[in-house]
Amino acid sequence: MGVIADIETPALILDRAKLEANIARMRDRLAGLGVGLRPHVKTAKSIDVVRPVLVGQPGGITVSSVDEAVYFSQHGVNDILYAVGVAPSKLPRLIELSRQGTDISVVLDNSDAANACNRAACAAGVQLPFLIELDVDGHRSGITPESPALLNLAAAVQDMPGVRLKGVMTHAGESYNCRSEPELVAMAEQERSGAVLAAERLRRAGYECPIVSIGSTPTALFANRFDGITEVRAGVYMFMDLVMAGLGVCDISDIALGVVVSVIGHQPEKNLVIADGGWMALSRDRGTANQPIDQGYGLVCDVLGIPFTSDLIVIATNQEHAIIARRDKGPVDPLRFPVGTLLRILPNHACATGAQHGAYHVVNGANPNVEHVWARIAGSSSVHQVTHTHTI
Ligand SMILES: Cc1ncc(COP(=O)(O)O)c(C=O)c1O
Repeated sequence: MGVIADIETPALILDRAKLEANIARMRDRLAGLGVGLRPHVKTAKSIDVVRPVLVGQPGGITVSSVDEAVYFSQHGVNDILYAVGVAPSKLPRLIELSRQGTDISVVLDNSDAANACNRAACAAGVQLPFLIELDVDGHRSGITPESPALLNLAAAVQDMPGVRLKGVMTHAGESYNCRSEPELVAMAEQERSGAVLAAERLRRAGYECPIVSIGSTPTALFANRFDGITEVRAGVYMFMDLVMAGLGVCDISDIALGVVVSVIGHQPEKNLVIADGGWMALSRDRGTANQPIDQGYGLVCDVLGIPFTSDLIVIATNQEHAIIARRDKGPVDPLRFPVGTLLRILPNHACATGAQHGAYHVVNGANPNVEHVWARIAGSSSVHQVTHTHTI
């Protein structure tokens, strides 16, 4: 497989030791609190990353795109939750997976979506299980746990033979905006109690609600209890990133993912180093912009992933160029970073940075060898034939 120094840059790099430690941390925490994991694979997008995550777990996964669902089912995962409110255009491929024997569930929060699922499933002769999406934090979509709309939706689907209510789910995305440990703990409890309340309301009204699914990396790692919860979904924890480090969810040294770039020049009068990893390699994510420490477009480390004491960050990106400077804008000695020097840039948001690449170059700590190149499905969608039918 060669050594890191031979990798053509920019390239996505994954430290297996850190990946394994992050996987073990989540597994042990959830096991200690007595709940199973349904990992979200939208960051990983690779069976090689996800296989060890599933060891000792019930075996189901969460996906954010139909492509992920197809890819992971082709690699033997047969219990898949597609956890984005379902759009009608995605139903044919999801239903095809169901016909092929994959246990595929969708999420929805309105009767229009339920009707679309019902029509498509009935036409195909299948039944689509679904979870009602809850809004526990005002972050995005979903029904609030105490809303009358919850029971109204459950009632509406009773007459729809193509869909089957299986439970409730929520994702406390606002946890990414917490600023202290007590806030994270409180957000985790808000997520848990909201989901449990909704499940209890459904059950009291006579509906079955076997699944109560919650999760985000910050809430999964800061929850003190999971009573009433049947599964936790977390995803970015496998890699961690600067946003998670800024939240206090991990240390910088836990970040398993990076982009290896080469120095291609300098602007000495401006105290800048230029490298060959622009937003095409790093993404344009600025997730740390509103955190106490703004990491620009990424934290610059040596090739082994150790940050420089002079605190270098990517202050700007062009398509293929990273513009690197000291955080305090102080002088940078060009001789310290000759052309060709390899640097590792830690990402703000692992999902966004990973999505720019088609493979992981897997390394292990300070060992210079590249152990494996693991394929990942890049992007979130591909071109598929959609058959449009018009009803008059
Ligand atoms: C529905 C859903 N569940 C779970 C997750 C996992 O969150 P995290 O990546 O913070 O672990 C996400 C992430 O966006 C999500 O959208």
